[in-house]
Amino acid sequence: MKKKLVVLSGAGVSAESGISTFRDSDGLWENYNVMEVASIEGWYQNPELVIDFYNQRRIQLANVEPNEAHKIIAQLEEYYDVTVVTQNVDNLHERAGSTQIIHLHGELTKVCSDNQKKHVKDIGYETFQFGDLAEDGELLRPFIVWFGEDVPLIHRAAEIVAEAEIIIIIGTSLNVYPAAGLLYSARQDAQIYVIDPKEVQPIAKIVHFIKEKATVGMRKLWQGLIK
Ligand code: OAD
Repeated sequence: MKKKLVVLSGAGVSAESGISTFRDSDGLWENYNVMEVASIEGWYQNPELVIDFYNQRRIQLANVEPNEAHKIIAQLEEYYDVTVVTQNVDNLHERAGSTQIIHLHGELTKVCSDNQKKHVKDIGYETFQFGDLAEDGELLRPFIVWFGEDVPLIHRAAEIVAEAEIIIIIGTSLNVYPAAGLLYSARQDAQIYVIDPKEVQPIAKIVHFIKEKATVGMRKLWQGLIK
């Protein structure tokens, strides 16, 4: 039986692929008002702006590639029972070959009905417009978990974290709850690694901190994990 390993990833794992993080100095929230483009209130106030923001993100995603960190995480499946719990809405973990992925904050390549997020549909890298309708005749919206919305997969994610012997936290500032609280579900004896070039906020657990970018950090950790 392979040991259970969970990767909790955030925007930093995709930074070296060319996707901006949110809270770094050149991050997306420097150029956009987060409440305008990524909250349920923003959606009701100006849905065109929100759709345009996610259309742009989708176009960008079509033009970037998974980096070595995504690839090493995928390769870990040869040795461990790996689940990736990601806050990212990009599909770079999938494209690198990871097979068990929980997207806590939704997926950029999908849209759904404005009525309770029913009728989820894969649109790949296509754009869509305000006024396009879902199967049930309601407005089509991005399949994203915005501020002010439930995070339906958090309970499943907490169960998976609770079973993990090894946890790798990579590229997240741990600013956004409930994702940032997942570590509280971890076993007392779980080995926890944090990969980030910046000191992330203290977590109430003993962790091995690897102060590196995602690719370098994952390369180092791979050597430690695959003996
Ligand atoms: P943040 O932008 O808050 O944090 C990114 C983290 O990645 C920071 O700790 C950076 O130091 C780190 N980082 C930067 N470059 C890196 C690199 N090359 N390698 C590794 N780490 C690097 O992003 P998240 O924590 O993912 O939600 O943000 C969480 C949520 O806030 C997002 O899912 C999004 C956002 O608002 C929604 O929009 C609903």
